[in-house]
Amino acid sequence: MDIVSDPAVMQRAALEARRLGRRIALVPTMGNLHEGHLALIREARRRADLLAVSIFVNPTQFGPNEDLGRYPRTPEADLAACRREGVDWVFTPSAESMYGIQAAVWVEVEGLGKKLCGRSRPIHFRGVATVVLKLFNVCQPHVAVFGWKDAQQFLLLRRMVEGLNVPVEMVGVETVREPDGLALSSRNRYLAPEERKQAVELSRALREAQAAAESGRATTGAELVEIVRKRIERVASARIDYVEAVSMRDLEPIGAIEPGATLLALAAFFGTTRLIDNARL
Ligand code: PAJ
Repeated sequence: MDIVSDPAVMQRAALEARRLGRRIALVPTMGNLHEGHLALIREARRRADLLAVSIFVNPTQFGPNEDLGRYPRTPEADLAACRREGVDWVFTPSAESMYGIQAAVWVEVEGLGKKLCGRSRPIHFRGVATVVLKLFNVCQPHVAVFGWKDAQQFLLLRRMVEGLNVPVEMVGVETVREPDGLALSSRNRYLAPEERKQAVELSRALREAQAAAESGRATTGAELVEIVRKRIERVASARIDYVEAVSMRDLEPIGAIEPGATLLALAAFFGTTRLIDNARL
């Protein structure tokens, strides 16, 4: 396994591998790898000859009052996990090497980036789209793997790839959860024990809404939202940021549930920790 921190070195190696006809997969991460990330890595491993995992806590996707400074960094454990999974390249650039010369070039996916999480995190998706396109250009993947846990991120990046004619196949992997249903996230470790216990209600609320849709008890987006809100409002330590039922095409609120195209998404604060989760219907 090669650990590469210089973008120019990484790009040269990737271009050379492509020249030799090798198929490259990329899994972009911010490190602190957990089973959710490992599911992506395993999916990517199956899809290519050479597997790159990037580990980069991308400063441009964090707002001024967000957790950039305290975001968990566990480089030793991450490298050991990558080794176990048969990763070929771990790309770990510095912020300097990624943004030193041209921080004024941005990728903006209009529309999608300002909805749902974009409302409380106005610069977040500009930072995500920019860094992911840069990672694509550096690592030259044929295929890139992302988690449906961050559904808005995945849909927005798919739109970016489509809109900018980026020749990368985009693959989404289902959310990996704790046994009680809580979606795995690096931010779960910020939760106090009581908050952790109560956070399980997010996934339970989504499941309840999903069941209501499947049985025909809920037929509109508003009914789904109501089921989820009611349940989370009963949770003492939770404060809802948003609950929305939207179309996966444009992230606009839906009237009637469109089977196969509906995203029920939420964000909620437990203390200062913001968690997201979603269900696709
Ligand atoms: P990060 O939060 O580290 O997540 C990296 C990838 O892992 C994302 O595609 C995310 O959706 C996926 N992931 C996280 N938790 C998951 C879970 N429980 N189940 C399945 N997949 C999960 O998302 C980012 O980093 C960054 O925004 C990034 C794309 C790397 C750009 O900086």
